[in-house]
Amino acid sequence: MSQRLFEPITLRGIQIRNRIWVPPMCQYAVEEHDGVATDWHLVHLGALARGGAGVVIVEATGVVPEGRISPKDLGLWNDEQRDALAPIVRFMRSQGAVAGIQLAHAGRKASAWPEWGTEQTDGSIPLDAGGWETVGPSAVAFPGLRVPRELDEQGIAEVVRAFAAAARRAVEAGFELLEIHGAHGYLVHEFLSPMSNHRTDAYGGPLENRARLLLEIVDAVRHEAGESVVLAVRLSATDWADGGVTSDETVQVASWLGERGVDLVDVSTGGNVPAAIPAGPGYQVPFATAVRAGSKLPVGAVGLITEARQAEHILLTEQADVVLVGREMLRDPNFPIRAAQAVGATPPVPAPYRRGFRQATAA
Ligand SMILES: Cc1cc2nc3c(=O)[nH]c(=O)nc-3n(C[C@H](O)[C@H](O)[C@H](O)COP(=O)(O)O)c2cc1C
Repeated sequence: MSQRLFEPITLRGIQIRNRIWVPPMCQYAVEEHDGVATDWHLVHLGALARGGAGVVIVEATGVVPEGRISPKDLGLWNDEQRDALAPIVRFMRSQGAVAGIQLAHAGRKASAWPEWGTEQTDGSIPLDAGGWETVGPSAVAFPGLRVPRELDEQGIAEVVRAFAAAARRAVEAGFELLEIHGAHGYLVHEFLSPMSNHRTDAYGGPLENRARLLLEIVDAVRHEAGESVVLAVRLSATDWADGGVTSDETVQVASWLGERGVDLVDVSTGGNVPAAIPAGPGYQVPFATAVRAGSKLPVGAVGLITEARQAEHILLTEQADVVLVGREMLRDPNFPIRAAQAVGATPPVPAPYRRGFRQATAA
């Protein structure tokens, strides 16, 4: 049987052992509301790396305090946060995984309740309960959340600088792959989408203006992080709504990203406006395929990819270059080991666990 899943992929000279990657997944596990990683992050991310994934991408990590989705998100705006991530990265790499991190600004969807641990989960956290003023391209709220303050040009420049500074810290912590969060209705996506961007200046209107923030971030991050780091961008290829981002626009944006030295586009969808999303197995894969065909960039497909043969088929039929497996990896961090067994590849079993994967014989 052919085994594309376990064929290494090389980006920027970094060989990645397989094509099962773990997408960023918020844990809401920061204890002191200070953006500093905890023991949970070490064990959670360590287990995913130990389970055999090619790349493990750390959850959306705020580049500024007001860019966190919730007070329990990771941050990377100071050295203490960097130093807490460094040993986690070291462990992930010791397990043969490439360590990645998603750099994020939540824009108008910041100051939200964490998904667990509080009575309330809906709406914005009030200012007198630990919440903060949010920012966005325009003073247009995500339904049910606070109205953001419209960023002025100086504010935009500060966001760009914050992404670059976080990228530098990420490289110092040992990360070899950086993903800019341009999806799911967070700040970069809010600029990309006409549904949330009503600006009339150089950052609004035609697509090249709506994409300006993202392209400035990419340039600043590459400049600060250096040439050897793998740079990925996650995009929402559609808003699933009339008047929103389209697949064609996303292909164009991806082409611009390619010209600027982005190495891979991680193609997701939605999140900027409430929408009925026809979710089913592999439902976002066609968007990844369109970006791959139109931009000639390597792409990652994500979304309800839960089975080895399904993942193998996506790669074999050249619909994507890698697959990102999220919730299935939460259910079973050993998914890459199981997948290898299913497609006839050598399972990425760590040496201390090998006896557990031999034919059952006397201990
Ligand atoms: C618990 C959880 C947290 C998530 N956090 C993030 C995040 O930090 N950044 C992001 O881009 N997507 C996030 N997502 C979306 C996942 O990265 C992924 O795109 C989505 O779960 C679909 O893939 P799956 O069907 O394999 O889970 C999250 C998903 C889950 C389940």
